[in-house]
Amino acid sequence: MKISVIGCGYLGAVHAAAMAELGHDVVGIDVDERKIDALASGQAPFFEPGLPEILTSASASGRLTFSTDMAAVKGATVHFVAVGTPQKPGSYSADMTYVDAAVDGLLPYLQDGDLVVGKSTVPVGTASRLAAKVKDSAPGANLAWNPEFLREGFAVQDTISPDRLVYGVSPDPEVAGKSRALLNEVYAKALNEQTPLVVTDYATAELVKVSANAFLATKISFINAIAEIAEVTGGNVTELADAIGFDTRIGRRFLNAGIGFGGGCLPKDIRAFGARAEELGRGESLAFLKEVDAINLRRRQHVVDLVVEMLGGKAFEKRVAVLGLAFKPESDDIRDSPSLDIAVQLNGLGAIVRATDPEAIQNAHAKHPQLHFVDTVAEAVEDAEIVLLLTEWKEYRSILPQQIEGLVAGKQIIDGRNVLDSAQWRDAGWTYRAMGRP
Ligand code: UGA
Repeated sequence: MKISVIGCGYLGAVHAAAMAELGHDVVGIDVDERKIDALASGQAPFFEPGLPEILTSASASGRLTFSTDMAAVKGATVHFVAVGTPQKPGSYSADMTYVDAAVDGLLPYLQDGDLVVGKSTVPVGTASRLAAKVKDSAPGANLAWNPEFLREGFAVQDTISPDRLVYGVSPDPEVAGKSRALLNEVYAKALNEQTPLVVTDYATAELVKVSANAFLATKISFINAIAEIAEVTGGNVTELADAIGFDTRIGRRFLNAGIGFGGGCLPKDIRAFGARAEELGRGESLAFLKEVDAINLRRRQHVVDLVVEMLGGKAFEKRVAVLGLAFKPESDDIRDSPSLDIAVQLNGLGAIVRATDPEAIQNAHAKHPQLHFVDTVAEAVEDAEIVLLLTEWKEYRSILPQQIEGLVAGKQIIDGRNVLDSAQWRDAGWTYRAMGRP
């Protein structure tokens, strides 16, 4: 199958490389020349485990090319739209500029039988609007919506072997059948492996995506709300999560209390979903998502307050070590990262913050050059009066008190992700504080 992928960010670059890995002929398009140059030379423009390997093998096979010129999509039959839908400045809605520009840019090149496939996370109603646009300009081409559920850090595996496939197709049965057949060819490997497939209408496909993210965000904020109660009652939210998680109706995954969720998806998606509900006159249906957001943001404030308290009432001129800046481990993504937000807030209070991360320093520095970044844990903790573990990279989870106690000025640690062994740190004479557990 000849495929084009418009947008080569965290989603599109992985999608393009994975499609080529599956044997398709793929061209990836992006307006960012530096990104395209890197990808064309087989280099991943961001950190994603497994991506460099498939980029190298796909490029070597000749099945994967990249271009900044939209005309390069000519000859492809399936065109994936994988551009970003960030939060619109000054609003909770999604900024649709990039999706609209991608589809408008594609229109002149569409041929009879082509299929435009939306992957971006969009407000419900977008697909039918874009389908009409495609029909107007290229009557022989069609549109389907195929939301993406990949997790950063596992993006390659999630793309090649997704846990489900969703196709939102046209209300016209003939068009729907053709769209389905083309997508089945694209995803033949996953379908042969019995990956569940849901074929539905446009609105449902769009809603599946935002509902999934809203549910995940709600699950995390639920457990963080319980953590707030545990914090004032002496309960232990981790043991509680284990206990309720044994109920398979609840499940243990996404019940890790901590400093809350971040990233380029969950925070902006719940806001855009709420904003869309308000436009539809159903704001009250999703009003709870505002609470989910508020609980989430309170966790960051809680850590800042705790640091100030542990530093004796003020952070001014106190040395603070921050371990972890990415919004989660195995990623260099700092979009809406709770860890980086906490570091910035403490810096704003006059603390002398020294921050490190295995992969995210460059991105964090570009956004917040006022922070002081160091390459190693040893440099970060040197003379620190308090150490904050904020992103649970493997190398931070395995730190032992003995490794750093000769370096710090004060034996105080906040475990923002509840991943350290509290007894080990307390036995070594540290003041250890965690999220929602004693
Ligand atoms: C999320 C969804 O999980 C994907 O299914 C979806 O495709 C993607 O958004 C998207 O819309 O593109 P991702 O943003 O990569 O994926 O990250 P998650 O693994 O969902 O983690 C989100 C945040 O929640 C992270 O900051 C993480 O630290 C936090 N989290 C996660 C918790 O605080 N507790 C948990 O128990 C789990």
